[in-house]
Amino acid sequence: MTQRTDVVELLKAQHTRIRDLLDEVAATSGEERKQHFQDLVRLLAVHETAEEEVVHPFARKNIEGGEQIVKDRIQEEESAKGLLSRLDDMDTDSPEFMTRFEELRTNVLAHAEAEEKYEFARFRQVADQSKLENLARAVKAAETVAPTRPHPGTDTAVKNLAVGPVASVIDRTRDAIRKAMG
Ligand SMILES: [Fe+2]
Ligand SMILES: [Fe+2]
Repeated sequence: MTQRTDVVELLKAQHTRIRDLLDEVAATSGEERKQHFQDLVRLLAVHETAEEEVVHPFARKNIEGGEQIVKDRIQEEESAKGLLSRLDDMDTDSPEFMTRFEELRTNVLAHAEAEEKYEFARFRQVADQSKLENLARAVKAAETVAPTRPHPGTDTAVKNLAVGPVASVIDRTRDAIRKAMG
């Protein structure tokens, strides 16, 4: 990804990665599925939190009917977070996990589609390229403070941000984004 990525391209790329991870969880089992699911939890936590802190406030203020559009999207996000928290406590190989996971997958796919169609598609009409690039930088700051794939040797505080129960990952990500944005 280039440095001049705009926020629409960046969010759509994250949606693509989310769709791929949803497929990978469904297609694998055992340790592999566990790993893909953890990657999915981290990416969703960072992605949705960045949208709530940076992207939705912009949409609410700038696009026509933004208030209602954002309200609907946030409701979808809350329901996905609830499902994610419940899944997080389950054995990833249990039948109940797959039933709930399919529910999550359906919700998340519909949510991403609605964002692209009703929200992101309007951004280029209401903001110039430099504004879209600034928003992208803020979303990237979220990725930096809460890496979706922590590597060995990364700073412990940063690494710890991405582990633990879903709700606490989301809380810590939000705090980190707010701090990063000053
Ligand atoms: Fe979202
Ligand atoms: Fe999204």
